[in-house]
Amino acid sequence: MKDLRTPPGKPGMPDAGTNLLRAGRIAGRRRTILDTMSRDRDSSRRRRRSAGAWLPVVCLLLFAGSRAFAQDADTPAKALGVVTCSGSTCHGAAKPLSESKVLQNEFITWHRDDHHARAYRSLLGEQGQKIARNLGLDSAENAPECLACHTNYVPAAQRGKRFNLADGVACEACHGAASKWLGMHVTGEASREDNLKVGMYPTEEPVARAKLCLSCHLGTGERFATHRIMGAGHPRLGFELDTFTHIQPAHYRVDADYRSRKQVYGGMQVWAVGQVIAAQRTLELFGQPKWQGNAVFPEFAFFDCHGCHHPMSEQRWAPRASTGLPPGTVQFNDANMLMLLYLMKHVDPALGERLHGAMLALHRATTESMDATHKAATGLSGVLEEVRGRIVGHGFGRDDIEAVLKSLVAGGTAGDYQDYSAAEQAVMAMAALVDALRASGELDAARGTRLDAGVKALYAVLENENAWQPPRLVAELKNLETVLN
Ligand code: HEC
Ligand code: HEC
Ligand code: HEC
Ligand code: HEC
Repeated sequence: MKDLRTPPGKPGMPDAGTNLLRAGRIAGRRRTILDTMSRDRDSSRRRRRSAGAWLPVVCLLLFAGSRAFAQDADTPAKALGVVTCSGSTCHGAAKPLSESKVLQNEFITWHRDDHHARAYRSLLGEQGQKIARNLGLDSAENAPECLACHTNYVPAAQRGKRFNLADGVACEACHGAASKWLGMHVTGEASREDNLKVGMYPTEEPVARAKLCLSCHLGTGERFATHRIMGAGHPRLGFELDTFTHIQPAHYRVDADYRSRKQVYGGMQVWAVGQVIAAQRTLELFGQPKWQGNAVFPEFAFFDCHGCHHPMSEQRWAPRASTGLPPGTVQFNDANMLMLLYLMKHVDPALGERLHGAMLALHRATTESMDATHKAATGLSGVLEEVRGRIVGHGFGRDDIEAVLKSLVAGGTAGDYQDYSAAEQAVMAMAALVDALRASGELDAARGTRLDAGVKALYAVLENENAWQPPRLVAELKNLETVLN
């Protein structure tokens, strides 16, 4: 498929201007990301000629004696720890190596700039300790319910000698436990397919990537940030695959060589896949008794946080076509489904209608009973499976991007993004689509500048979720609409 984003030869970071807008999503962290980007630019300018060609030999010598990777096919692979990847001739070079296929300074980027590297440390910090105290835990850093997402929490039997929980969310949490592929990998002879066969994770493929990231940024059957954890002081989780892929400091470079080894997917495809996998995962978790409990109330984490959390003096209720709910109801968090609704309005309007019907049925059911809600959720899951079939493998072109951007904006001006989570998803979607439009090569500079300004204004509306004012979003969306039409 045509790449809609990164020009060849540049580091994985997309167009700087727009990426800054996206980084702006995370209030207060903007500077960190800015710093990262200028440092990245500097280091790629200074990229030196070096011994990249020697990588396979040197790494092989390092690992050959360890027999860490000599295991039979039936035992599960072991995670070997970040020290196994971070040798200066492997992935711990001080600077990107120009003669190597991969940058080789991945460890440095991760260690210095990537929030995943401090995921374990966050448990030790003030906020982590406060959450633990409020939950009655002895400590966050020993609690499986925190370690599950803040480290590569594999069972003890699958930890190699140098594995260390304090590494946080390190290489193998995303790329797969290395014991079975390391040996072959360091020879430099193995193809992508060879590596994948023995347990390396297909991080480039959107469905696989969505499942991976959402396993912590939303949850799984084993781990979930419940309202109890939120109530103890945990930040709200909000995730969009394309945006988060781009604000994670890039430790890879999409160039001609990368393209010869891996398929590259357009931003709109990544966004759409992220939405459908998140929507499906939400319903799947909602259906699990483990995450429901038997209390008087359902698990609040599945509902719109700000529906309950805002001052009574601020009366924001307004009818919303896509929920059909009356005032005074707690609303299921349908942000991902809502994005899919506006996507389907363009891609497959008939399926879009059915999706809308299934969403309305779910919302209605939440006002009836838990039983009815679970039934409606199952019905909606079925429709989402069809939506997924229409998205995965669908090559979105320039016209699709433009049409869905308009569709999303129209949904907003009609008042469909009343709740903060929906607004946040919509704005991240619009930023992703403007980026995708630019990457398609068919966005002229003047229009691009105006669209960027529009997206920037939308992010500004979202800046403080506790002072969220839906009418401000509608006003900004109307401005954006004039640029689009
Ligand atoms: C094993 C769990 C886990 C996986 C898998 C994971 N993350 Fe994370 N991620 C975290 C945790 C925990 C944090 C918060 C770290 C901290 O600051 O303490 C985080 C933080 C982030 C941040 C920074 C967010 C911010 O507010 O600045 C980005 C961006 C991110 N992750 C993107 C991704 C992407 C993209 C993927 C998939 C390729 C992914 N993550 C996979 C656990 C995970
Ligand atoms: C389902 C996975 C999950 C679970 C379970 C979880 N976290 Fe998190 N945590 C995350 C992610 C993802 C983030 C980053 C959120 C973002 O910025 O988008 C995060 C962020 C945090 C932060 C803020 C880090 C920062 O500096 O921004 C703290 C502190 C934290 N978690 C502590 C805990 C503690 C303590 C527990 C156990 C009670 C816990 N977490 C359980 C996934 C999880
Ligand atoms: C939060 C998830 C995450 C973590 C942690 C992570 N990576 Fe990655 N990595 C990715 C994603 C996503 C890609 C891009 C997709 C791809 O090329 O497979 C990638 C790509 C790569 C590439 C491919 C470059 C190429 O040209 O093919 C290498 C090498 C790499 N990572 C090494 C590492 C190392 C070493 C670490 C630890 C220091 C690490 N990664 C940590 C998610 C992660
Ligand atoms: C159905 C209503 C409802 C929903 C939905 C809801 N909450 Fe709550 N939340 C509550 C109630 C009730 C409390 C307890 C308030 C108290 O102790 O005074 C609470 C407490 C909290 C607290 C602690 C506040 C304090 O004063 O200590 C936080 C933080 C929080 N919720 C975050 C969230 C997040 C994040 C979400 C969405 C994932 C969410 N809530 C969804 C009703 C809700």
